Order: sequence, then C-alpha cells, then structure tokens
Amino acid sequence: MPHIVFNKTDLISTPSSKDGVDFKFIAKSYNFTSYERSTEYKIAVENENKEFLLTIKDKDDNQMIKSDKITRVAPITIVKDALNSYVASINPTVVFSNTNTINQKAEPLKEYLKDINYFVDEFETNKEIQIEVGFGSGRHLLHQAKNNPDVQFIGLEIHTPSIEQALKQMKLQDITNVLIVNYDARLFMEFIDSNKVGKIFVHFPVPWDKKPHRRIYSNEFINEALRVLKLDGTLELRTDSRKYFDYCTELLTNLPKGKITIDINKDLAVSSKYEDRWKKQGKNIYDVVLQSHTIDEALVIQKDFSFDFDINFEERIGKITTKSIVEKDFFVHIEDLFTIENEKNSGLIQLTMGNFDRPVSKYVIIRNGKFDYYQGTPIPTSSNIKAHNKLKEILK
Ligand SMILES: C[S@@+](CC[C@H](N)C(=O)[O-])C[C@H]1O[C@@H](n2cnc3c(N)ncnc32)[C@H](O)[C@@H]1O
Repeated sequence: MPHIVFNKTDLISTPSSKDGVDFKFIAKSYNFTSYERSTEYKIAVENENKEFLLTIKDKDDNQMIKSDKITRVAPITIVKDALNSYVASINPTVVFSNTNTINQKAEPLKEYLKDINYFVDEFETNKEIQIEVGFGSGRHLLHQAKNNPDVQFIGLEIHTPSIEQALKQMKLQDITNVLIVNYDARLFMEFIDSNKVGKIFVHFPVPWDKKPHRRIYSNEFINEALRVLKLDGTLELRTDSRKYFDYCTELLTNLPKGKITIDINKDLAVSSKYEDRWKKQGKNIYDVVLQSHTIDEALVIQKDFSFDFDINFEERIGKITTKSIVEKDFFVHIEDLFTIENEKNSGLIQLTMGNFDRPVSKYVIIRNGKFDYYQGTPIPTSSNIKAHNKLKEILK
C-alpha cells in the first residue's frame, strides 16, 4: 500500500491545492476507541476528477499518510500523486516513501472485464445469454464461446489469476463474445433481467462439505437462476462430489415445477482442468440439469439510497451505536465516526454493510446535516438496500 512517513508537522490547511491536487477538507476521528490508538484523520482530495480519502495518523514518533482502503481509486498513480502533493505542500523531513510513480506497469487491456456496476446500469443485449459460474482455467467457457458466436457469454469468477488467464486467452484466440466479472456468483443474478438466459453452467463448484452454507447452490440461488432462465433454459451442475450431487438433487426435487435430468460419466466436447484431475483419479462425474418450465415477472431493481431527513450530527454523534446489527440476510456495522474540521454539523460515517458473503465498506458524508454516500451509492443488491434502510433507522 503506498504510504509516506515523515516527521510530525501541522496538518495542511483546507481547502487548498498543490500540483493539480485539491485538498478539500479534513475529518477527525471521533475517537471512541482513543485508548487503542492515536487520532486518525481523513483528508478528502480530488485528483484527475476522482474524489477519495487519504488517512493520516501517528506512527511511532512520526506521522504516516497513506491511501484510504475503502475509497481507493485506479490507477494507483492518482493516489500516489496525491500523497506526494500532500507531502510537497507541508515540506517535512521524509523518513520513508514508496510513492515513486515512474516506471509504473501499464494496466493490461481489460475491454472484456466488467465491473458489477456495468450490469446494474448499462448491460443490454439482444443475444441469448449464457453464464458460467466459477470458470477457473476458462477451458469450458472459451470453448463454448468459440462454438456459439451468436451467444453472449458471461463468466463469473472470484479468483483474480484465473480471470487474468482467461482475458489473455480471449485476446490470443480473438474471442469477443465473453464478458468477465469478478463477482460472487451467488449474488450476481440479481442484476440480470428475467427470462433472458439460455444456460447457466456450474462445473465442479467447490463442494464445501464442512461448510455447506458457502456452496453456490442454495434455494435462493436456484430461485434466482430460474427467474433469469428462459422457458426451457437450463441450470447445469457437473460435479465429482457425491455429497454435492445429493445435496443439489434434494434441493431441486423440492421445486414445484421443472424437469431434472441426471447423468453419470457423460462425455462433454471439452474437459476442464478439474475434470481431467478427477477422471485421472477414477472418480465418477455426475451431471444434474434443471430445465426451467416457468416464465417469470420482469426484474425491478430497487435503487433508493436516499436519506429523507437531516441530522444534528454534533448532538447525535455520541449516541450513534457502533454495535453490529445483524439480521437474517443483511447486516450494518458503523466502524468509525469523524467530524469535519472547521465545518458545522459535518462528518463522515465509516461503515460495513450488506450481505455477509459480500460486505461493502463505504463512507456516508454529512455536510450541514445532510447525508450522501461518498463516492456514490452502494451497488443496489437487495441486502444493501435493506442495510441502508436499517442505517436510516439507526441515524434517525
Ligand atoms: C474447483 S474450481 C472449478 C473450476 C472450473 N469450473 C473447472 O471445472 O476447472 C471452482 C472455481 O469456482 C470459483 N468460485 C468459488 N466460489 C465462487 C463464487 N461464489 N462465485 C464465483 N466463482 C467462485 C473458484 O475461484 C474456482 O476457480
């Protein structure tokens, strides 16, 4: 993480600018855990049209400035330039720095790597969609994409090296009908329109025998899969794990409607890396295919992250609970509170919220008693919306 350590000096005055970087305000930790650590400050900056925070705190007898993890922006040179400008404007003795921005590696071409927000706001296609969950080496996904050029494929994966490998292969093989997303497949379907998907492949998911709650398949996942599947579209599990097979067939045979087909040791045109491994070990391979027999209602995404009230922050700050609030399918945890220096009724609320499997960290900024999410609202998953409504209850 880029940071600079320097001898203690007064903080920069805000608002001010240096080398094209704007320093907008300073927020001071409200310090309800002050017995544990020294005072922490957040410095709001804008560089190359991007707004983010820097953290400044004591480090032994010195001070350290670093990027704030929650509001990090890309490319990292934007953050490093802001750190360098901060230090240039107060001119202290620098003890350590790793913010040299020369010789930065160019970002690899990521035309087909999409952020989840792309699927919330922009994604549209007239083509049939097919989705592969946890594509790993990408062998099956890319084979399908090459052989079905009229289909728009979406590959979901959470393992970054696998994603980079697939993007490289796509470039080498000139494959243009795949979009790759680094996102948890259990939550992704929430943003896909109903009745649009022809196939969902789940090949050799991690069996999680000891932690079944972490499995991809659950009642919620199956219901969301059925919603996005077209009439006669299929959800296709391929696994070497007898336990996973049994677990899934039980879930699927409890559905009110649909057709289930089971195969053992069926050959496919392409064998994935994991499939090769299990075959070598002489294991059975099970296929369970669910065919959708329903047409579902259109998707409506709730996006309301507004706050319909103001706050007297100075009066309320000491009473805001920092205890985690945990409900069945979401949680909210206020991690820290900050007051903005020299500004009345203004501050930052640092929080973690949403789904347990994919929590989001955000700041809410309060200026003159009015709330806003810093750097934009969270992704509108149903858990984030529920967490937001709980947050409103806490702050009201
Ligand atoms: C056992 S590997 C199988 C990979 C590939 N399908 C194959 O057959 O070779 C499981 C893959 O699923 C990915 N994965 C695990 N949980 C996931 C999730 N919640 N969302 C998306 N991918 C996930 C893992 O990173 C891993 O690459």
